[in-house]
Amino acid sequence: MKKYVLDLTVRQVELLSPKHVLLRLTDSQPLPPMQPGQFVEVRVDGSPTTFLRRPISINYVDREQNELWLMVAMIGDGTRQLGRLQVGDTLNCVLPLGNTFTMPASADERVLLVGGGVGMAPMLYMGAEMQRRGIQPTFLLGGRTAADLLELDLFNKYGRVCVTTEDGSMGEQGFVTNHSVLQESFDRICTCGPKPMMMAVARYALSKDITCEASLENMMACGLGACLCCVEKVKTEDALPTNVCVCKEGPVFNVKRLLWQI
Ligand SMILES: Cc1cc2nc3c(=O)[nH]c(=O)nc-3n(C[C@H](O)[C@H](O)[C@H](O)COP(=O)(O)OP(=O)(O)OC[C@H]3O[C@@H](n4cnc5c(N)ncnc54)[C@H](O)[C@@H]3O)c2cc1C
Ligand code: FES
Repeated sequence: MKKYVLDLTVRQVELLSPKHVLLRLTDSQPLPPMQPGQFVEVRVDGSPTTFLRRPISINYVDREQNELWLMVAMIGDGTRQLGRLQVGDTLNCVLPLGNTFTMPASADERVLLVGGGVGMAPMLYMGAEMQRRGIQPTFLLGGRTAADLLELDLFNKYGRVCVTTEDGSMGEQGFVTNHSVLQESFDRICTCGPKPMMMAVARYALSKDITCEASLENMMACGLGACLCCVEKVKTEDALPTNVCVCKEGPVFNVKRLLWQI
C-alpha cells in the first residue's frame, strides 16, 4: 500500500476527557485509502524532548468530510503536545502504516471487537467499516472508570456496545474478560489495548477456538521497519521463533502467531 507524507490541517480539537483529545484532520486533496487497524506516524513539532514520530491508530475516516480522526491519550511530552494543537495548525503525518484487521468474510460471522483504554480507538473504524459491509459487530469496551469510555455515542451507531469499568462506575464491574457477553458465542475477536488485557482476551479466544487478532502497541520509532525498535517474537509457518517488526508486519497479529506466555 502506498505511503504518503502529508501536512494535514487540524479542523477540530475536541477534549473527550481530561486525558484524551480527538483530533480531526483534513487535507486539500482527498485523503488516501486507509484500512481499520492501520496507524499514522505523527511528527510532534514544538516539543524539545520528542525527536521521533509517535504512532497513533486510525480512529475513524470520514470520507464525506475528508477527515482523519486520531484519538490521543495525553500521557507524555509528545502526546501532551498533540493535545495543544489548535484549529488551523498543521500536523505532519506518514500514512497509512501497518497491516489491517481481517474483515469478516460474511455477514453471518459473529464478531466481537474488544478495546481497552485508548485501544478502543481503532475499534471504532473497524466497526464502522463492518457496518458499511452489512456486518453488525458487538463492541466490548473497558476502562478503569466511566471517564475512560469515549465516543460511546458513535460506537452505538455501529453496533451493540457492552462496557466494563474496574470501579463499576459504568457497565459491568471488572475487566473486559469478566463481562457476561462472553457467555455468548463468537466466530471472531479483534482486540487492542494494554498487553495484559489482550493476553486475557487471547486466552479466552484460544480456549473457545475463536479466531483472534490483536493489535500490538509496541514502542516504535521509524514506523517503517528500519530501526528494529518494535520487534516482537512470533512463530513462522513452521512454528519456528523469529523476530518481526510490529510496525511493518503488524500491528495486527493472529494471536496464534504470538509467543506470549498465555
Ligand atoms: C501501532 C500503535 C498505535 C497506537 N495508537 C494510539 C492511539 O490511537 N492513541 C494514543 O493515544 N496512543 C496510541 N499509541 C501509543 C502512543 O504511540 C504512545 O502513547 C506515545 O508514543 C507516547 O508518546 P509520548 O511522547 O507522549 O510519551 P513518552 O514521553 O514517549 O512516554 C511516556 C510514557 O508512555 C510510555 N509509552 C510510550 N510509548 C508507548 C506505547 N507505544 N505503548 C505504551 N506505552 C508507551 C513510556 O514508556 C512512558 O512511560 C499507539 C502505539 C502504537 C505502537
Ligand atoms: S518502528 Fe522502526 S522498525 Fe518498527
